[in-house]
Amino acid sequence: MTRLLPSFLVLATAVANAVAQSQYLLGLGIADITGPVVETNMMGYASLGQTDSGLHLRQRARAFIIGETDNTANRVVFINADIAMGDSGIRRGVLAGLAAKYGTLYTAQNFALSSTHQHSGVGGYLENLLPQITSLGFVPQTYNAIVQGVLLAVDRAHNSLQTGTLSIGNETVVGGNLNRSPTAYLANPAAERAMYVDEGGDQDKIMSLLSFGSRGFLSWFPVHGTSIYENNTLVSSDNKGMAAYLYESSVEPTAMPGNQTFVAGFAQANVGDTSPNTLGAFCESPGEPYDGMPCQANSSTCGGTVEQCHGRGPGFTLDALGFHSNQMIAQIQVDAAKSLMSSKLAPITGTVRSVHIFLDMANHTFTLPNGTQAQTCPAAMGFSFAGGTTDGPGSFDFVQGDNSTTQNPLWEIVKSFITPIPSAAQTACQFPKPILLNTGYATLPYAWSPSTVDIQMLKVGNLVILVIPGELTTMAGRRLRAAVRTALIANKIIDESAYVVVAGPANTYAHYITTREEYAVQRYEGASTIFGPYTLEAYIDKYTSLVPFLADSPTGTPTSDAAPPELTSGALDLNTGVVFDAAPIGKSFGQVLIDVVKTTAYKAGQTVVAQFVGANPRNNLHLEGTFLSVDQLVSGAWKPVRSDSHPSTLYQWTRVSTILGTSSVNVSWTIEPNTPAGTYRLRYFGDSKPLIGSISGFTGTSSNFTVSA
Ligand SMILES: *[C@@H]1O[C@H](CO)[C@@H](O)[C@H](O)[C@H]1NC(C)=O
Ligand SMILES: *[C@@H]1O[C@H](CO)[C@@H](O)[C@H](O)[C@H]1NC(C)=O
Ligand SMILES: *[C@@H]1O[C@H](CO)[C@@H](O)[C@H](O)[C@H]1NC(C)=O
Ligand SMILES: *[C@@H]1O[C@H](CO)[C@@H](O)[C@H](O)[C@H]1NC(C)=O
Ligand SMILES: *[C@@H]1O[C@H](CO)[C@@H](O)[C@H](O)[C@H]1NC(C)=O
Ligand SMILES: *[C@@H]1O[C@H](CO)[C@@H](O)[C@H](O)[C@H]1NC(C)=O
Ligand SMILES: *[C@@H]1O[C@H](CO)[C@@H](O)[C@H](O)[C@H]1NC(C)=O
Ligand SMILES: *[C@@H]1O[C@H](CO)[C@@H](O)[C@H](O)[C@H]1NC(C)=O
Ligand SMILES: *[C@@H]1O[C@H](CO)[C@@H](O)[C@H](O)[C@H]1NC(C)=O
Repeated sequence: MTRLLPSFLVLATAVANAVAQSQYLLGLGIADITGPVVETNMMGYASLGQTDSGLHLRQRARAFIIGETDNTANRVVFINADIAMGDSGIRRGVLAGLAAKYGTLYTAQNFALSSTHQHSGVGGYLENLLPQITSLGFVPQTYNAIVQGVLLAVDRAHNSLQTGTLSIGNETVVGGNLNRSPTAYLANPAAERAMYVDEGGDQDKIMSLLSFGSRGFLSWFPVHGTSIYENNTLVSSDNKGMAAYLYESSVEPTAMPGNQTFVAGFAQANVGDTSPNTLGAFCESPGEPYDGMPCQANSSTCGGTVEQCHGRGPGFTLDALGFHSNQMIAQIQVDAAKSLMSSKLAPITGTVRSVHIFLDMANHTFTLPNGTQAQTCPAAMGFSFAGGTTDGPGSFDFVQGDNSTTQNPLWEIVKSFITPIPSAAQTACQFPKPILLNTGYATLPYAWSPSTVDIQMLKVGNLVILVIPGELTTMAGRRLRAAVRTALIANKIIDESAYVVVAGPANTYAHYITTREEYAVQRYEGASTIFGPYTLEAYIDKYTSLVPFLADSPTGTPTSDAAPPELTSGALDLNTGVVFDAAPIGKSFGQVLIDVVKTTAYKAGQTVVAQFVGANPRNNLHLEGTFLSVDQLVSGAWKPVRSDSHPSTLYQWTRVSTILGTSSVNVSWTIEPNTPAGTYRLRYFGDSKPLIGSISGFTGTSSNFTVSA
């Protein structure tokens, strides 16, 4: 008996550990979602002039499936896509594809489409009119790239399903973000602000990380995807996409970007008032006495206007487009994630559940905790919305106060439907917001803003992910998280180990969500809190009321408003397709126009460039592929060692003549430190469209060149 006791104790301990950490079915996958990289408006800054001209980093979707091992119905899928925001049309398209392939396995209830909120991706995919204005309407090529890529990411995750365990933890991130509206944050009660001094004060400095062990992770940290400035025109994925690249390539350095099996998820959290421009905002006002001085704090103006007030990232002095700052803000997030992945994290235990409803926010009445009735309002944008932010001043060309914006042909069409004058009831409901665009009443030619939003929660054991249809500010996110956590514990859904994160903007884009105190200040975030002063309270009421549906054995189904109307099929599109491509007389597609240097060796830090006779890359997006390669001569054979998604390479396209259909392409590679000495070449993969006939591919190849140690 005594001899048996030790082994019995070992067994008992093993059983206890097994109970403490649940087994889950886990799947992870990555896919390419990059739309047309030229002649298309970019999404995020909503700047008419920001038309893309090439590629820095491809946009990816990363899919994370978590299910119970014994009941396939209890499963969730979280998408972290390198796009500016989730969208109802994209979500509808993906769900239709999932239903066709998987039946009822992945549905509106358990599928969450979250975004990194990056501002340098391809635009034109959103369903409502307002974000389509600068992209001259809806761009089907962008929409299809995102929908098909998200479906592929889910397929890959699904095909990789195997059992494993999950764990969670958090860590303070230093220097990764800054509040861009600190004067609005100060409007929150002092006692409430005092509670969060250790968590970063006016910013959430904490990264939460859900570890999938050796297979990857999903992390949440709030920082705007605005490291790369509005004047960049190369498609990229901003700091979270860069962080994912840096992390994944550090685990599998020889795999091509996007082809790693380790999946690093850098998801967005309560991003509303965050900025990656951590040095602060300064006046770029050459010749003025305030040039180089901090902007006026409350209004973010220089000499009374917003245009010259720009935020600066940590690498501000190193380049003029924000690429160095982008890499630095990415690295800060990578370092935090690495530290968390090598720490002892708390086990995740419990069931997998999800809940989703539609909520029409246009005129939603509900009861505040003190018993008073409150109501949201049809959407409206305040005056400060037109001012933009220090990350991208002055949004939407039609509100700049002059009439030179008639260069935008879509605006010519929609201006006759300009938003209706707000009624007295709408003005009172939105008070104290001065209404600039009464978008909730603007339904011609179709809805400018969404009225119906997705309310969704995913429960993975003791972790609950609040999937948010907009951008919560720092304090708004804290209030919502705290309220839901309290409700989870009070309803005995989860014990004190309940861990709540917010993710978004996800599923659909209903702009910003501030606290009521911040709303009263009416900075950009308050002006963009479209459903009025009680927007946050309405969300807190709805998310907390849905908590019982996350129970192990929930009763009944939640009531839902009707799904938002389908607008995509009838959307305006004023973008013209590719007419034709031609090579200059006497030349052929892919022919080298400017060659690499053959006579002297290149060294690390130098940039190799070759220019080729090009064709329009809209002819073939090369999804899951590349527009270029750097090849190394290894044992007599060429081996591709860089693709268009390495940050060291750039693909740049230039239209030479619209009438002649000619264009040129630059392929460049800035040689990284520690690049092996040897013989290399650059290649360009293009596709040309003749006036009559079908698109065909071609390859351009530079001369061989050497890299010395
Ligand atoms: C960080 O983790 C600790 C331990 O689980 C938890 O008490 C704390 O609430 C977490 N912080 C945030 C902001 O989630
Ligand atoms: C700026 O905002 C702060 C905090 O909200 C307020 O106390 C101050 O009076 C404001 N200053 C001006 C000039 O509006
Ligand atoms: C991606 O990885 C797979 C499996 O390792 C490999 O077969 C394929 O060639 C890789 N693709 C690229 C572009 O490297
Ligand atoms: C791009 O914008 C940033 C921020 O306003 C500015 O500092 C920089 O000079 C601009 N770069 C170019 C090339 O215009
Ligand atoms: C909004 O709801 C309130 C309360 O149900 C109702 O009195 C009012 O007529 C509604 N307004 C609109 C515009 O639907
Ligand atoms: C309930 O709270 C709201 C919002 O703070 C406030 O406007 C209202 O006066 C309060 N009602 C009561 C009865 O205290
Ligand atoms: C454009 O604005 C100028 C100055 O405000 C005004 O004089 C002119 O009439 C406007 N043009 C049109 C077509 O409205
Ligand atoms: C392409 O490369 C050539 C040669 O380096 C350079 O002169 C040209 O400015 C580049 N074009 C673009 C769009 O960067
Ligand atoms: C480049 O290297 C390859 C492989 O050694 C060789 O076949 C080819 O002739 C070289 N090209 C030139 C222009 O030197």
